[in-house]
Amino acid sequence: GKGRHRHFMAKEIEEQAEVVSHALATYLLPAEGKIELPEGGIDFSKVSRLTISACGTAFYAGLIAKYWLESWARLPVEIDIASELRYRDVPYQKGDSALFISQSGETADTLAAMRHAKASGVKVGAILNVVESSMARDADAIYPIKAGPEIGVASTKAFTCQLATLACIAIAAGRQRGHLTEADEKRLVHELLKIPRLMADVSSKERDLEQLALDLVPASDVIYLGRGVSFPLALEGALKLKEISYIHAEGYAAGELKHGPIALIDEHVPVVVIAPDDQHFEKTVSNMHEVIARGGKCILLSTSEGLEKARADDELLGSFAMPSVEPMLAPLVYAVPIQLLAYYTAVHKGTDVDQPRNLAKSVTVE
Ligand code: M6R
Repeated sequence: GKGRHRHFMAKEIEEQAEVVSHALATYLLPAEGKIELPEGGIDFSKVSRLTISACGTAFYAGLIAKYWLESWARLPVEIDIASELRYRDVPYQKGDSALFISQSGETADTLAAMRHAKASGVKVGAILNVVESSMARDADAIYPIKAGPEIGVASTKAFTCQLATLACIAIAAGRQRGHLTEADEKRLVHELLKIPRLMADVSSKERDLEQLALDLVPASDVIYLGRGVSFPLALEGALKLKEISYIHAEGYAAGELKHGPIALIDEHVPVVVIAPDDQHFEKTVSNMHEVIARGGKCILLSTSEGLEKARADDELLGSFAMPSVEPMLAPLVYAVPIQLLAYYTAVHKGTDVDQPRNLAKSVTVE
């Protein structure tokens, strides 16, 4: 049941700290500071190219994993949405492996893309929540995400458990390929183990996010900006908002703004800026100032030091102070305010949060 929560989505957002720790416990040996992937999985030392595919939120988790696999494992990654990948004439080659990500394990397009890759001789791994599913039966290797049943149509805890699992896979791949040392692995494991507590910290401040959401309620368009690993999170934030509040929203790479989307900016379009204190911070904040200079109303998500450095307090619509987190892992923690902003916007609009119009939990038709 929903327990004390008004909606399954609220419950599932809150329980992320707990289920992410289950996902991590599946792959981490905390005492040794090591990661252990299931037997019979993909041997990343032999992979020359990895294809990742999925739909919707699971696709955005894959997009974040691409940054991790490239950086930690020096592994060339190609990624596409499953409804395109399945119809592309991909020249799969020896040395190719593929990962498919799905909460349900039943999404028609993801299943078809997986079957097509497998039929082309590619070893396929499936990152799944429901491990008794069509994709589980057909995959060569299964990586469970341990999120527990997800009832809300808008995916929340499956997303962060997919990220936790993918982070473990990427770190293990980095070790297998000799690009991460034992000490690197230990440091990253240590940082991963901090994530659940940081997520709980953010959840406990949900009232502040509800306040910020009130500024999104009257909007008919909202823009999300991020750079690096925060770019896919901007896409996810926009998807979450449109799904449950029916407000038109788009995510953009912060650097892409001036190539067109900035024309949309005026005082009626709130812009949510995801700017963790990382190597991209200055650039993203300078993009934010370009928005402000055009009358745009920004909500800034960053650490308290970041908020201070941005020197924009009087010009902002709002801000939310995030705990500091290892920059590459920031999406796991920044997912929480992104989800809560969408959730409270929908609650105040009075939409059906758990059963949004026109949507199904699992899309088993093309
Ligand atoms: O079950 P799957 O993970 O394969 O589902 C993929 C998408 O249909 C799903 O993530 C969808 O985008 C959600 N409604 C997002 O909140």
